[in-house]
Amino acid sequence: MSAQDEEIVGKAYDGRLMRRLLGYVRPYRAAVVLATLAAVLHSAAAVAGPFLNQVLIDRYLAPTHRPGAAGFLAARLPQNPYRGITLIAALYILALVLGFALDFTQTYIMQWVGQHSMFDLRRDLFQHLQRLEIAFFDRNPVGRMVTRVTNDVQVLNDMIASALVAFFDDSFVLVFIVAILFHYDWRLALLTLSVLPLIAFAAFYFRRAVRDSYRRMRAALAHINAFLQEHVSGISVVQVFNREAQAQEEFRSINRAHRNAWIDAVVAHAIYYPVVDILSNLAVAGILWWGGTSVLQGRLTAGVVVAFILYAQRFFRPIQDLSEKYNLMQSAMASSERIFKLLDTPVALASPAHPAAVSDRPGRIEFDRVWFAYKGEDWVLQDVSFSIEPGATAAVVGHTGAGKTTLISLLLRFYDVQRGAIRLDGRDLRAFDLQQLRRRFGVVLQDPYLFSGPIAHNIRLGESSISDEAILHASRSVNLHEFIEELPQGYDTVLRERGNELSTGQKQLVNFARALAPQPPYLILDEATSSVDTETELRIRAALNHLVKNRTSIIIAHRLSTIQRADQILVMHKGRLREQGTHQQLLRLRGIYWRLYQLQYKDQELASDSVPAPSLSSP
Ligand SMILES: Nc1ncnc2c1ncn2[C@@H]1O[C@H](COP(=O)(O)OP(=O)(O)OP(=O)(O)O)[C@@H](O)[C@H]1O
Ligand SMILES: [Mg+2]
Repeated sequence: MSAQDEEIVGKAYDGRLMRRLLGYVRPYRAAVVLATLAAVLHSAAAVAGPFLNQVLIDRYLAPTHRPGAAGFLAARLPQNPYRGITLIAALYILALVLGFALDFTQTYIMQWVGQHSMFDLRRDLFQHLQRLEIAFFDRNPVGRMVTRVTNDVQVLNDMIASALVAFFDDSFVLVFIVAILFHYDWRLALLTLSVLPLIAFAAFYFRRAVRDSYRRMRAALAHINAFLQEHVSGISVVQVFNREAQAQEEFRSINRAHRNAWIDAVVAHAIYYPVVDILSNLAVAGILWWGGTSVLQGRLTAGVVVAFILYAQRFFRPIQDLSEKYNLMQSAMASSERIFKLLDTPVALASPAHPAAVSDRPGRIEFDRVWFAYKGEDWVLQDVSFSIEPGATAAVVGHTGAGKTTLISLLLRFYDVQRGAIRLDGRDLRAFDLQQLRRRFGVVLQDPYLFSGPIAHNIRLGESSISDEAILHASRSVNLHEFIEELPQGYDTVLRERGNELSTGQKQLVNFARALAPQPPYLILDEATSSVDTETELRIRAALNHLVKNRTSIIIAHRLSTIQRADQILVMHKGRLREQGTHQQLLRLRGIYWRLYQLQYKDQELASDSVPAPSLSSP
């Protein structure tokens, strides 16, 4: 699916992306300032421990005459060593508790900020997705959208919550420690830091190894998502055609790619962390040797050497994590690039700035020399012209793939025409507000679609102006009411995803009721009764005479019996409008419609075996 997009590995920092990202954090900047403050204080509390150790040793355990680095604190401590030690232990606990409280504050605030910013980002993404034209969804698989709104946003949240402010925290700890070390003894400080180049070297190789594994992991995950989605949705086809073994085999290979990428990352981690540990312990060994010698020679106190050792152990941990943070930044930049690319996808099909009002009375529909292609110049409609008078009913017939549904998609402005124009009451469709335009049409599309939730909800679709009576009326008119009444909870019966517990015919009837409930001035039926039984169809057909009254209607049907009473019949053939007229006029033409009619008529004749079927080859 989205292999190319998923493979983006960008820079770890991209100013343009970062600024846009921070735009989502901006509303919560007060919280970020608070968290940063907490982070700074936390880093101060975090470096207090070794310092207290040093004071304790040099003041009470192995007192020296050298004033030491902490002279100002030592001078204020009580003479009595027992009281002094107790006091230092109390300070130690105080630093711990403070550190914990500040850490909690920082973590909580930043997670809060992360979740709030990502809430806003997801809201914008979904809003934008809903505005994008159908053609966009023709091009982009579902899995890609799902990945954007879920995984990619999650990566950004991780960055905001655990990298943005934690970065300050780590940096402050490092700065504090380096400052204190140099303050104690610059030679020993240099010795401690001398392993840094080696660590940088290790980090560089680690990052390279891990980055590649992470990229492969993301690509494999995207594959797994897409594969699962397709195969779970199509599970019945998989089972009917006994495709389980092949599917299993295909899944095994993408699953394996994912596993191997993870294992590679784990190997890199498993090498990197111990290597850094060894290097930092080398530094500790250096401190022991040089520091020990210096203590013997009276140049350093025992407390300072202990403090160095404790600091060395705290110093390398944030450095170790820095590589992980770097990777996180890199994934976050790649994710935000994908997200903003989606957010920046222009809405090709929008309402004009000053839309004309669509009348709520049935108007005239006019196709004027319409040319349309889904892709490039593969014309699906060629030079199609016709008009339907206000309140009239037009039927569209033609072979599969002739372009019937396409006519409807254009009329609802799911796509714009390439040449020619479609007009409503003499005005180009592009002059109207999209939502208002579509609201005027009651539409039953070819493949019925239901949402999870109560049936009444599915008919009303959140339109509060539709009364319960209107829903009842609409359901009665299409023979749906009796069926719903038999359900345990009636109109409140909750449907599962896609309304899967209903038969296709039942779903079609719910769609029918949904189209009629708002009492629209235009009615469009695309094979609306193809899946219902003959009796229901006959009832709908009887109702149809009433339903199309005072509506401009377009009815697409393969069963010609449904549409003989239409005011005009449009015969589509290979993207062209080849014949048009009433049933009788078209029969007299003896063209495509006549042949279609003969075919269906012949079937009926064969079934009832009465009047001999007319020969197809006769002119
Ligand atoms: N989203 C799309 N992208 C590209 N081509 C499409 C798309 N939808 C339809 N087509 C093509 O346009 C042509 C007309 O399709 P359309 O759905 O309008 O046919 P139809 O007359 O409604 O057929 P049917 O009777 O089977 O419903 C077909 O050749 C089809 O392959
Ligand atoms: Mg169709």
